Amino acid sequence: MKILGISAHYHDSAAALVCDGVPVCAVQEERLSRRKNDAVFPIGAIEWCLDHAGIGPDDLDAVVFYERSMLKFERILISTLRTFPHSWRSFPNAMRNSLGEKVWVRGIISSYLGIPRRKILFTTHHQSHAAAAFLTAPTRRAAILTADGVGEWATLTVGHGDRRVDGGTSITLLRELRFPHSLGMLYSTFTAYLGFSVNEGEYKVMGLAAYGRPTQVDRVRKLIRRTPDGAFALNMDYFEYHSSAKRSYSSRFVELFGPPRTAYEPIDLATAEGQRFADCAASVQRVLEDTLVDITRALHQETGLPDLCFGGGVALNGVANARILAESGFERIFVPPAPGDAGCALGAALYADRVYFGQPDRNVPDHPFWGPAVVSQDLLRAATEDGQTVEELDDARLIERTAAELFADGVVGWMDGACEFGPRALGHRSILAAPHSVKMRDRLNRDIKYREEFRPFAPVTPIETADRYFELPPGGVRLGRFMSGVFRVRPEWREQLAAITHVDGTARVQVLDRDMAPRLSALLEAYGRHSGIPVLLHTSFNVAGEPIVCSALEGYSTFRRCGIDMLIAAPVVVTKRGPSKVRSLKEEALA
Ligand SMILES: [Fe+2]
Repeated sequence: MKILGISAHYHDSAAALVCDGVPVCAVQEERLSRRKNDAVFPIGAIEWCLDHAGIGPDDLDAVVFYERSMLKFERILISTLRTFPHSWRSFPNAMRNSLGEKVWVRGIISSYLGIPRRKILFTTHHQSHAAAAFLTAPTRRAAILTADGVGEWATLTVGHGDRRVDGGTSITLLRELRFPHSLGMLYSTFTAYLGFSVNEGEYKVMGLAAYGRPTQVDRVRKLIRRTPDGAFALNMDYFEYHSSAKRSYSSRFVELFGPPRTAYEPIDLATAEGQRFADCAASVQRVLEDTLVDITRALHQETGLPDLCFGGGVALNGVANARILAESGFERIFVPPAPGDAGCALGAALYADRVYFGQPDRNVPDHPFWGPAVVSQDLLRAATEDGQTVEELDDARLIERTAAELFADGVVGWMDGACEFGPRALGHRSILAAPHSVKMRDRLNRDIKYREEFRPFAPVTPIETADRYFELPPGGVRLGRFMSGVFRVRPEWREQLAAITHVDGTARVQVLDRDMAPRLSALLEAYGRHSGIPVLLHTSFNVAGEPIVCSALEGYSTFRRCGIDMLIAAPVVVTKRGPSKVRSLKEEALA
């Protein structure tokens, strides 16, 4: 059975193809269109998935859209009318956005793909999140939590999943919390208040939080109160996202927390104002964590299960995930590599396969590499024509050459196989560097990633040595597989791992299983032989404002435009000629 899953129209649209119960491929539209968080109907991603599998639309048994667009339309209509006349300004906007293709999805899919309407199915938004988390995890029974900004009405669900011995699958969502009460919207409101862009800047709030103290927790708690049934409710007097398209926080919010930051105003942590924003970030982060810990603790008691599958955009908060692991009672937490809405394309397809069609249970390969593969010969051609130093090396020499470059403080662009599905680079489209000095962190922020200095970089290290450098609790290895947890760097290593140690002594470490990315694993070993420490700094291969590179040519173009010294797509190695690196200048002078 061939099932195509689609997510679109909010942000970061994607397509995924499941054949005979197993994913074949999945990709976000942004990786192909090169528009970050592209939310259009993902025709590029759909075409690539079909081409990759060598099939046409007629071969599909079903196309599944990741949410019920009519319900979403109803939510927008009702919440706009509820706040009428206050909301009258946002009404035409909301209607225009929803009345277009968002509502008439069935017709759009049918006409784009030329398939009969009866083949087009829908899951609910949180069923898709739940399936993306549970059906991709190597567990047979687990509690399920989903939390995001909003889907149709639901913003958070709890339930459980069961892959039964008879081959059947059930995903039961027991309870849901509804819009406008939303943990994702609470966090996004602070993201906007702190001057970052919503749906993208949430990472920045989490990074900034480490610089602050949670001095404003009592104020944040005025915005969110626990309800007797174990859920929470937001005090909507402080918010406007349910009634306005312009601003998500209200004047009362500003009275409580002070003037918001504008996006153009740099955050200077040496000033009282900069510290106020950091404290604000720390406070909302603390309240988010506390709320999730309470909910998951209750869910653990209710289900009695050792495993939790956690999906939805809120599951990208690695600091909160580590606290859930430490405090909820769950032994293992599975966060998929694409917990956000893009991942819903895969979740929707898997949900339809197992639940709608009752297809037999299958294990889903436990990795994120479902996108287009890099073609090394494209890199060879482009770099040769451009007059760069290009070599083709066998794997052993390539690994050794790259390790030596990293040890000499070179920055390496690393492309290997299929690109990752989800927002994080996990070893196939990565920028790598030595993790030892803050100078390297600052150089990467300044010359390569062009981003704020408070943003931390993450490390990658093999599973075998992770515990030596990081304080990994039981279950930490699993959270670290897809960089879903933030853990403490052991104090005795912080000085030698200064480029990846955040200001509060933590790091969002990727704990690498050799089977998942063998070439990167070999590189870490080789780097360990040079430096004595098999840890590398590891960040996504893109510059600020651009999607992660997908093809060899995009990697090459990025390499040419920023301070990366060496570019790899095995067996091809490109070494930059030019002024970006002091050492190569010296070498050229000697030659
Ligand atoms: Fe979502």
